[in-house]
Amino acid sequence: MTSIHPIDLRSLRLESNLVMAPLAGVSNLPFRLIAREAGAAMTFTETVSAKGLVTGGKKTRRLLDTSPREDPVGFQLFGSDPAVLAEAARTLEGEGAAWLDLNVGCPVKKFIRNNAGSALLRDLPLAGSIMQAIRANFSGTFSVKIRTGWDSKSIVAPEFARMAVDAGVELLSVHGRTRCQQYTGKADRQIIRRVVEAAPEIPVLANGDVTSPRDAFDMLEVTGAAGVMIGRGAIGNPWLFSQTLAASRSEPVQEPTATERLETIERHISMMESHCESDQARASLLKKYLAAYSRGMRGSARFRQATLEAEDLKTILSLTRSFFSPHREAA
Ligand SMILES: Cc1cc2nc3c(=O)[nH]c(=O)nc-3n(C[C@H](O)[C@H](O)[C@H](O)COP(=O)(O)O)c2cc1C
Repeated sequence: MTSIHPIDLRSLRLESNLVMAPLAGVSNLPFRLIAREAGAAMTFTETVSAKGLVTGGKKTRRLLDTSPREDPVGFQLFGSDPAVLAEAARTLEGEGAAWLDLNVGCPVKKFIRNNAGSALLRDLPLAGSIMQAIRANFSGTFSVKIRTGWDSKSIVAPEFARMAVDAGVELLSVHGRTRCQQYTGKADRQIIRRVVEAAPEIPVLANGDVTSPRDAFDMLEVTGAAGVMIGRGAIGNPWLFSQTLAASRSEPVQEPTATERLETIERHISMMESHCESDQARASLLKKYLAAYSRGMRGSARFRQATLEAEDLKTILSLTRSFFSPHREAA
């Protein structure tokens, strides 16, 4: 299979075309490092408020935590004021960011009320001004992530793609759903294909519902996209990246052994130690990841319930070690 290949951008090369999606509340630094170790060619941060960044909010700062080990990483910004986004772009460039991504996909009401995220699909002139403002103030890689349109009657993604190319955007990710669909229905691969055809100058990452190597290959084939962006399918299953890479080399696709699974989870947990500001924050994040890591395993519902009821980190850790113990499967 040849569908897995590097992607060349103006100033950097992605080793493959498998990319980890931005996931608010999930794709923090430890999560991204785990995805990279598993084979994602790059990752995006959780979405960051341009306004929060410019006004120096502490919570916003934490979202920007990074490490040289995850280079390249795209810092995803959201906002609706071109001047604020321009300033955020300048600030991040001054701090060494090499890749910025603009969020034109988030469907959440709070974003829409502020004219940000997928609300920009309803205001293409504003979206154009924002893209130009960022481009004029940022010399690194600049990408944009969109949905297909506001609703099924206003599919603007192909037109948006042209505008993005004209504004100097270097890569476009397309989630094949409209804003109104939220997460219902299926990602529309035909519309993604239309975007690919509308913007042959730049690589497009096709996104939506990829949960297996087969899905990734089908997505590439049907859309003709340069690459695939994977979101929910990789939560608790970073091996989706290594399995897709293995399948592309015609190697057997193997599930991680119990030992590998536990090693990854333990590494993930230990990286969270320095990342989270409190044990409580770490415990609540951990519960989310552990639910995902245990999905589909025997006894996972009971394990999830036990972690939800656990009151401290120590208990969660001990439940985890016994649930994912390699000896458990042999027993
Ligand atoms: C919990 C969650 C958080 C998300 N956060 C973001 C975000 O911060 N920025 C963004 O552009 N998309 C965000 N998305 C959308 C995903 O990046 C992706 O487009 C969507 O989940 C479809 O891809 P998938 O089917 O592979 O998950 C989020 C999705 C989920 C489920």
